[in-house]
This record gives sequence, C-alpha cells and structure tokens, in this order.
Amino acid sequence: MNPRWLFPFAVVGLFAQPSFHRDVLPLLKKNCQGCHSPAMRSSDLDVTTFAAFAKGGKRGPAIPLTLKYLTGETQPRMPLGQPSLAAADIDLYKKWVEAGAKDDSPAETSAVHTPTVYRQPPVLNALRFSPDGNQIAVSGNREILIHSADGNKLLHRLQGRAERILSLAYSSDGSLLVAGGGTPAQFGEVQIWDPRSGKAINAATLTNDTVFGASLAPDSSRIAVGCADNTVHVFDAKSAKELYKIGNHEGWVLGTVFGSDSKRFVSVSRDRAAKLNDAASGAFLENVNLLRGELTAVARHPKKDIVAIGSEDRYAFVYKMDRPRNMKIADDSTLIHKIDRQDGAIATIDWSPDGELFAIAGNSPTVNVYNAETGKLTASCKGHAGGIYALAFTPDGKRLATGGFDGKVRVYNARTCELQHGFIPVPLSGGTQ
Ligand code: HEC
Repeated sequence: MNPRWLFPFAVVGLFAQPSFHRDVLPLLKKNCQGCHSPAMRSSDLDVTTFAAFAKGGKRGPAIPLTLKYLTGETQPRMPLGQPSLAAADIDLYKKWVEAGAKDDSPAETSAVHTPTVYRQPPVLNALRFSPDGNQIAVSGNREILIHSADGNKLLHRLQGRAERILSLAYSSDGSLLVAGGGTPAQFGEVQIWDPRSGKAINAATLTNDTVFGASLAPDSSRIAVGCADNTVHVFDAKSAKELYKIGNHEGWVLGTVFGSDSKRFVSVSRDRAAKLNDAASGAFLENVNLLRGELTAVARHPKKDIVAIGSEDRYAFVYKMDRPRNMKIADDSTLIHKIDRQDGAIATIDWSPDGELFAIAGNSPTVNVYNAETGKLTASCKGHAGGIYALAFTPDGKRLATGGFDGKVRVYNARTCELQHGFIPVPLSGGTQ
C-alpha cells in the first residue's frame, strides 16, 4: 500500500474531535461527580454515564444545558461554588457538542462479568459490616467488594450486571447480602448474594433507572427498594419475586427501613413525606412526619420503632414511627429531636447497633455523630476529601466506617472520631489515565 495514504490519518489524529469517553467523561467525573453522582444527583442530574448525562435532570437533557452552566450564561455557574473550568476545557466540551455530542463509550455488554479495572478509586456509595463483624462489604463499579473488617484482605468480588450499587444490607444471621442499584437511565436491580461464599443467589430487575435505599426486614422475609419513578417495590427475600409495588409518593423514593417487628416499613421521598406502610400488603398506614425538606435518608433505632430521617435541606429529624390514629395532620408531637443543620445535603444516616449513637453524612467532608438519647453532637469525624455517601457502624457500635467521593474507606472510633485505619477498597491498576 502506498505509504502516503497514512499521512492524512496522522493529520486527522492531530485535530481529532473530542471524544466523550476519552475527554468529556473524565472532565465531568473530576469536576461534577461530587454533586451529580447516582447517590447525590443534585437537581436530579447524574453525569457518570452518557445515558444518564444525556437524559439530564430537572430541567431536561443536560448536554446543551451544561455549556450554558459552564460559561455562566445560565446561573448558578457550574461547578457550583468552585472556580470555573479552564477555558480549554470549556472549549473542548463545546467542540464535542458542536461535533454532534456523540457517545463513544465502550459497549456495556463487553464489560459484564469481567472484573472491573480501576485506575482510580471509585466513589463509594454503600458500606456494611457483616453481623459477626468479620467482613465489610463495599460498593464498587459493577461489583461489591468484600474485605476482612480490617481492610487487609480482599475476600470476594461479587460481580453483577448493575453498574452502580447504591445500598447494601446484611441479613441478621449474616447468610444474605442484599444490594440495590442498577445502571443509570437503563435498569434498576436488586441482588441477593451469599456473602460467605461470594455466590449470587438471586437478582431482580425493575424500572428503567437505578434503585435506592434497599432494606431487608429484620426477619429476612422481605426487601423494600425505592425508585426514581416514585414507586416502592417489595420483594420476597428468598425467591427475589416481586410481591407488590406502591405508588403513593410524588417524588423519588430514596430510602426505606422496616420496623422492628418486620410488619411495617417506612419509605422516604423527595416529596418530603415519610410514609408508614404495611409490609404484608403494601397498604398505606400513616404519614410519619410533618412535611419539611426533600427526604434523602432514613435509619431506624436497632431495637425501638424510632427513625432518623435526613433531608436535602441539611436537617435531620428523629421521629416515632407510629402516629396515634386520631392525630391531626399538622400535629408534630411524634417528633423527638430536630438535629442541627449539617454542612451539606444529607445523603446517608446510620444508627449504631447498640442504639446509643447515630451518624449523619452527605455533601460535606465531615460526618457528625450524635447521642441518640439527647440528639446532641458527640463528635465530628474529618479527613475525607469531598462528600460522604456511605456509613456503617461495626456490630459492637465502637467503630464507624465512612466512604464517599474520594474512594477511601476510613474507620473511626465512633465516640471520639479518632481515625483507626483506612484503606482503598479496590485493586488499582498501574499506569496513567
Ligand atoms: C457543589 C455541588 C455541585 C457541583 C460540583 C456541580 N454542580 Fe451542577 N448543580 C448543583 C446544584 C445544587 C444544581 C441545582 C442548581 C439550581 O437549580 O439552582 C446543579 C444544577 C446543574 C445543572 C442543571 C440540571 C437540571 O436539569 O436542573 C447542570 C446541567 C449542571 N448542574 C451541570 C454541572 C456540571 C457540568 C458540573 C461540573 C463542571 C457541575 N454541575 C458541578 C450542584 C453542583
């Protein structure tokens, strides 16, 4: 072949059009993912895959909108509260849009069931200790990583279909690990694993977006998950068969938790309501709270039917789960504590298994730990860079593991917030980005 044919290709290479996968996605991940991840979704926007980014947020398709937010033509300028992107980066984004905003991400199917390769730690959205305290399960990309509790040994990599795992729950006997997640703008998934052998037991797909706040009943009978189509779905925990779905919320349902008797559960939503439902039938029983901010997280006291609820407007509330039947709508006498305003929107709450403490975290690098009895701050754990989306107390309540934007797991003394140890939960591959 005439070698001169090669020359034009070299020239094209020099003036190559920006690629979504190579150029735009890393830019979005670096500058925007802290607030627009599947876990945070500020303004309903997730920028971590092409499909989710293209679908957009509250204001519709994000590709054209983003340019206006980057230049400041539309306010508030993005990245919110940070210096604007370098002119060269904005220009790169603009060129990609002008060239047709093409998606050149590698096909999803090619990655299924091949171990994820990490060049940098992924954002952590969920953490759980096994009830015997020996293991910690950590969300990864398209997998769950199971480590020894000290983080020194990676025991299993549980690879499923879902690109994102947003919630994890162990059964009280430690024989099941339930995960909720999905692939943004494609499907939601509930996975059931045997965490000791690392084998998949069952999985169910539902809706066309990731699912949130999966919880398991204390008697291990049922699994509840919240969805972006405003529904709650309830599954049989053995067969993964869907039992029913509820559609009484008017916003994304981001959290669920069962009562101590497994017979009722609470769902919390961006519609600002926490609703108490009958677990057997799905029938609505009562509203738990007086409506305030958009609700993003819920956790229950380990023994009592008391729930801590967190909201996007940075406040958390502790409520009795049950309202007396004859209570008036505007009555708030089941409110036990209103917790001090946090530094960022709340993404997650966990209650220590001894019932004494609960911890709150979200779009801020600080985790605040509260005395559950008094509702007063006991300690603030610091050290992360960026938001914290995952919290887990050890079964003895002595330690608190945290994870989020920076991809590190940190383990603190739960009472003093003194750092005990930390680790990166994924195997990192060498080489540069
Ligand atoms: C510190 C948090 C934060 C960061 C970082 C951030 N955003 Fe935002 N973003 C927000 C919030 C909050 C809103 C809602 C603003 C409003 O409605 O006033 C928003 C809204 C948006 C919207 C409009 C979505 C819709 O449909 O309503 C777009 C597009 C957007 N951001 C893009 C970006 C991009 C691109 C980056 C990175 C270059 C970025 N954001 C970084 C917090 C953030």
